[in-house]
Amino acid sequence: DARHGGDSADIRFTPVPPNKDDALRIPDGYQSSVVVRWGDPVLPDAPDFDFDNQTPDAQAKQFGYNCDYVTLFPLGRDRALLWVNHEYTDESLMFRGYTGGAEATEDQIKIGLAAHGGSVVEIERGRGAGEWKLVTSGRRRYNRRVTAQTPMRFSGPAAGNALLRTASDPKGVKPVGMLNNCSGGTTPWGTVLTAEENFDQYFVNGDKVPEAQKPFITRYTITTGTPSGNRRFDRIEERFDLAKHPQEANRFGWIVEIDPFDPDSTPIKRTALGRFKHEAATTTLSRDGRLVVYMGDDSRFEYIYKFVSKDRYISGFDRHNRDLLDEGTLYVAKFTGDSPKTEIDGSGKPPSDGLFDGSGEWVPLVSGDKSYVDGMTAAEVLVYTRVAADKVGATKMDRPEDMERNPVTGGVYVALTNNTNRTAAQADEANPRAANKHGHVLEIVERRDDAGEKTFAWSLPLVCGDPNDPATYFAGYDKTKVSPISCPDNVAFDRDGNLWIATDGNQLDSHDGMFVMPVRGKERGHLRQFLTVPTGAETCGPLVTEDQRSVFVAVQHPGEIDGATPDNPASRWPDGDQPRPAVAVVWHGKGKQIGA
Ligand code: FEO
Ligand code: CA
Ligand code: CA
Ligand code: CA
Repeated sequence: DARHGGDSADIRFTPVPPNKDDALRIPDGYQSSVVVRWGDPVLPDAPDFDFDNQTPDAQAKQFGYNCDYVTLFPLGRDRALLWVNHEYTDESLMFRGYTGGAEATEDQIKIGLAAHGGSVVEIERGRGAGEWKLVTSGRRRYNRRVTAQTPMRFSGPAAGNALLRTASDPKGVKPVGMLNNCSGGTTPWGTVLTAEENFDQYFVNGDKVPEAQKPFITRYTITTGTPSGNRRFDRIEERFDLAKHPQEANRFGWIVEIDPFDPDSTPIKRTALGRFKHEAATTTLSRDGRLVVYMGDDSRFEYIYKFVSKDRYISGFDRHNRDLLDEGTLYVAKFTGDSPKTEIDGSGKPPSDGLFDGSGEWVPLVSGDKSYVDGMTAAEVLVYTRVAADKVGATKMDRPEDMERNPVTGGVYVALTNNTNRTAAQADEANPRAANKHGHVLEIVERRDDAGEKTFAWSLPLVCGDPNDPATYFAGYDKTKVSPISCPDNVAFDRDGNLWIATDGNQLDSHDGMFVMPVRGKERGHLRQFLTVPTGAETCGPLVTEDQRSVFVAVQHPGEIDGATPDNPASRWPDGDQPRPAVAVVWHGKGKQIGA
């Protein structure tokens, strides 16, 4: 193949074996370093991190907690802007003696608010061939912290709708802050799309909203009462108490667009993309040039969505492009298997045609002011998207997380992390295992490989677990030659079209890590482990740079083990001291292409 995509010649490293080392373990011949960790300075006037003397002001200027989505914007060959999501905080690891939100000091709660959101930091190439380092001096004019308290705005069809209005924002257009930003994407015009995921956990008194709102609170599993484990943001900001401000919860759960090149810009919550526990927001163009965004809702039995803009993307016409995410159609996916239902028994044993596969369609939910869902207005579909997807009979998936489109083939890949609640009776060909604890990967091939189409073929190239388990599948590849894998979460492609997979919650006897698998040709299914992360951590990002010389990986929540505290830490990564979530970079010591 002229584009050598997925060819075995590209991937030669010796896989990292399963292990439980408190370390970032990488293949022989590779090197790694930490680029930026929790508490490192982001704004030029940020103080040095001091674990035992944290303050809200310092945290608002320093790198936030639990890094998740990572992306790069080049500023030239040797400089770039790094965007990183800060998904959530783990106060029991951040503060000594922490016993819960009710007893937390006001400063601890304020530090938690400031440690959420995202960071823009300038980075520069290091001495190693693929090494990158945080820029720690000079003006750093793009560096920025976005937090749970940053002023934002709504745009799109639901902006200003009655469902988004609160006492402090009677027009329903100015939400404040973003929460639980998990994965994300970038736009062709150079902005970040960051996805608010488990926003439900930040509120209290979800059971004290008006009666008519209660079904929606339940459908989004929003906290009831004032549980002690809750961060109790309501003690600092009354808006987090739904008994007083019932609609505040409707102002979270969106895709947020942020311009990393304009530190004064107001982040925009794009209502046309719907409201759910957003995971990814991967963009591409349809054949006729419309912008397409793929999105997952990461909970058990939730759905896969895509948005297709009404107008076309016009390269270089910024003023036009920046409105594309406000007008278009939101779809939800419906999967149909091609094997008899009797052959899908929940065991994970492949059906007689040898494949979990079939066809599917994108079912429209809403276009601008037009709702396609009986009994719901367009605004209701956008704010209560889960309820709308229920009504059209979309397919309930095993935790749809990250999605990526293969740059070589156009195939769309979805990580389905796991779903131990699925019963054998609920097994379908796209989610074929009962008590699915290891998850699987779904491949969608849209008609004519056109992202604007409404129908597709699909299959499961990877059914995860121990390769010795007959209920696993590695695209038909020799299972004696693959690495075990469990709980695929984030995915990425390199330039050659190899699929990179990061895991979260490994149910085999090893830490989480990152893997690579060709998806074409003779090597399709040859999955190999590229790295493992320290104790208690999940693997996020990941990002293989355009020049294929560096892999960025976010090491989220190192040391997060039940019962661990700062006085009894479960991990000492990365500095041999308290564990600190961090973004690391991995490169080949001789400057070879990643995978060599
Ligand atoms: Fe934040 Fe779905 O992982
Ligand atoms: Ca089949
Ligand atoms: Ca995730
Ligand atoms: Ca991704």
